[in-house]
Amino acid sequence: MRSKIVAGNWKMNKNLSETQVLLEELSEKLPSTEAEVIVAPTFVNLADTARMLKSSKIKVAAQNMHFAESGAYTGEISADMLLNINVELVIIGHSERRAYFGETDEFLSKKVKAALANNMRVIFCFGEELEERKAGNHFKVVESQLKNGLFDLPAEAWQHLVLAYEPVWAIGTGETASPEQAQEMHAFIRKTITEAYDASIADEVSILYGGSVKPSNAREIFSKPDVDGGLIGGAALVADDFIDIIRAS
Ligand code: 13P
Repeated sequence: MRSKIVAGNWKMNKNLSETQVLLEELSEKLPSTEAEVIVAPTFVNLADTARMLKSSKIKVAAQNMHFAESGAYTGEISADMLLNINVELVIIGHSERRAYFGETDEFLSKKVKAALANNMRVIFCFGEELEERKAGNHFKVVESQLKNGLFDLPAEAWQHLVLAYEPVWAIGTGETASPEQAQEMHAFIRKTITEAYDASIADEVSILYGGSVKPSNAREIFSKPDVDGGLIGGAALVADDFIDIIRAS
C-alpha cells in the first residue's frame, strides 16, 4: 500500500549508548504524522532498538541480511535472526553494499526473495553513479537494476516492497538531486513497473528518494507527486533534523 515513509539509515554510526540517546530523543520529539517512520541502526544494536521501540510508532529495519537460512557464512545475519528480535523490515541493495562489498544484482535478487519468503518487508535501493548520469545512461541503469533485482518476482510480492531511488552522486556529498530530477526518475520508475507488471502495482508502491535529504530541502522534494518520502543518511543521525524531515513529509 502506497504511503509516506521517512526512514533513517544510520549506516555504521552510533554505538549502543549513542543509539539509546538518539532513540530517546526521537521518541520524545516524534510529531504526530501520517508517515511511517523507520530507523535502521547497525546490527549489534538492532535487538536493543527493537526492545526500546516495542510500543513506539517508530519501526526498526536492518541494513542488510544474507539470503541463506543459516550455515557457514561468517559475519552474516539471516532473516530468521532478524525476525526473532522483532525486526521485520530490511534494506537491500544499498549503493554502499553494491560498491564496497561487491553485491551484484543477482546476489541482491536472492536476498530480496529470501526476505519476502520470510514475510519481511524490503526497502530495495538502487540508483546511478555520476559518470552514468553524465553519459545520459541513468534511466538505462535504473531500469536494469530494477529488472535484474525485482522483475522476476510475482505480482503479489510487490505489496511487501518499498523502493528507494538513491543516485550515488547525491549520497553523503551534500549534492541533492533537484526535486525535478527526483520526480523525473520516480515517474520513470513507475512507467517501467507499469510495463513489466501493470499500472496498479506501479501506483501502489512507495518510492522514496535518498541522497543528502536535509530539513532545508525535504519539503520540496517530498512535494513531488511520485516521491513518497525519503531514505535519510547523515541527517537521520541528528534528532532535530530527522524530526524536521518527518514534519516535512
Ligand atoms: P545521505 O542522506 O547521508 O546522503 O545518505 C543517503 C543514504 O545513503 C541513505 O541510505
